[in-house]
Amino acid sequence: MAHNNSQAEQLGARISESIRRYSEKLQAGETPEEEILRISSACRELDVLVTPPESWTNQIAMAYNSTVSMCLLLDLNIFQLLSEKDEPTALDTLVERSGSSRSLLRCALKECVARCILDEPSPEVYKLNSRSACLLNENGAAWIHYLCDVGLFTGAHLSRYITENDGQIPSHRHQTAFQMAYQTDKQFYPFFRSCDRKRAERFDKAMQWSSRGSAATPVENIFDFSQLKSDAVVVDVGGGSGHHAIRIARQNPHLSFIVQDLGVAPPLDEDSETPRRVQWQQHDFYNEQPVKGADLYFLGCILMDNTLGDCCKILGHLANAMTPKKSILLIDDALDSGEDYNSLAGALNMHLLACFGTLSRTMEEWEKLFSEISCGLSIVNRWTVNPGRVTFAVKRTS
Ligand SMILES: C[S@@+](CC[C@H](N)C(=O)[O-])C[C@H]1O[C@@H](n2cnc3c(N)ncnc32)[C@H](O)[C@@H]1O
Repeated sequence: MAHNNSQAEQLGARISESIRRYSEKLQAGETPEEEILRISSACRELDVLVTPPESWTNQIAMAYNSTVSMCLLLDLNIFQLLSEKDEPTALDTLVERSGSSRSLLRCALKECVARCILDEPSPEVYKLNSRSACLLNENGAAWIHYLCDVGLFTGAHLSRYITENDGQIPSHRHQTAFQMAYQTDKQFYPFFRSCDRKRAERFDKAMQWSSRGSAATPVENIFDFSQLKSDAVVVDVGGGSGHHAIRIARQNPHLSFIVQDLGVAPPLDEDSETPRRVQWQQHDFYNEQPVKGADLYFLGCILMDNTLGDCCKILGHLANAMTPKKSILLIDDALDSGEDYNSLAGALNMHLLACFGTLSRTMEEWEKLFSEISCGLSIVNRWTVNPGRVTFAVKRTS
């Protein structure tokens, strides 16, 4: 215990010192990103140190209950109900407004209070805090709801998936934990696009948030679209509901966009000018690319969802459509840098494995992937702006 005490004191001193620097930076109007990371990491270490090991492992293993509780509260629209009044809301009012079981609601609310997602200023009276207030954003709520609902359900089948694959991850297309969970032969996207419109719509909203609402830098701040010539054509391959294309089109009136995806055209924003320059096209990217010689093809968060074999197929079709030395292929995806587990790639890895049977790639794996495309793709630029994320500009050499 004496040993633990001195470790705890050292951690306490580290935390105090980081807090001092954090406050100084805030006062100077700077963003104390490094200090935030140091404080969080030291507080976590301290928490682990003072918690009995059995309790710690138990807490971690039981964490799925927090996921379940958040999902239930989202399903029951509780965060919205709590936002309707300025003052805290009693449990009985929430029961009445949501029509749900009192004991169920109480249980889910208590779990969210314990995880600091909600506040309980007096017994059985609840109010939003800054964390739950994020869930009032429709797209933010969709992302969290998707992770809780699809993520948890699919992740629960990973154990069977790994057993059935003898502990290996096949590099070609194979039966995923997602397919085991939903008892379907269809892959993730075809399943949602054709069988579960509600979840597909939620996923599209979630994608808008994860690319815009999170700390991630928008792709147009990484690659300068204004450098493309007047009337240049940009093809957003697997562009979902076109959120990137619409945003970038608004900033670049000289460009036109074709958004390609599975299923039916999403309702485009009724903005008077943008829709005319943003067209939607049904296209399956495992087939020949119908738009030849475009100025730029964009693959945003596409290859991360695909096995090596399928990535070669997608890139092969794009390379065949590209005009050598002219067409740019812009790829914005996850990078396993091996450093920061809390980065995009680290946090998403188990989810990618469960849903798609693949993991995020290291820089060496990315380079090897490009080298395998027969008509020659070469990286002309690369950016690693956010942890766990890489953006490549690639051209066809011959
Ligand atoms: C992770 S989301 C990325 C959406 C968007 N590019 C972004 O960056 O936010 C993957 C997208 O690829 C689409 N997709 C999946 N399989 C596809 C296929 N075979 N052909 C075309 N699009 C596909 C999905 O419908 C979904 O919109």
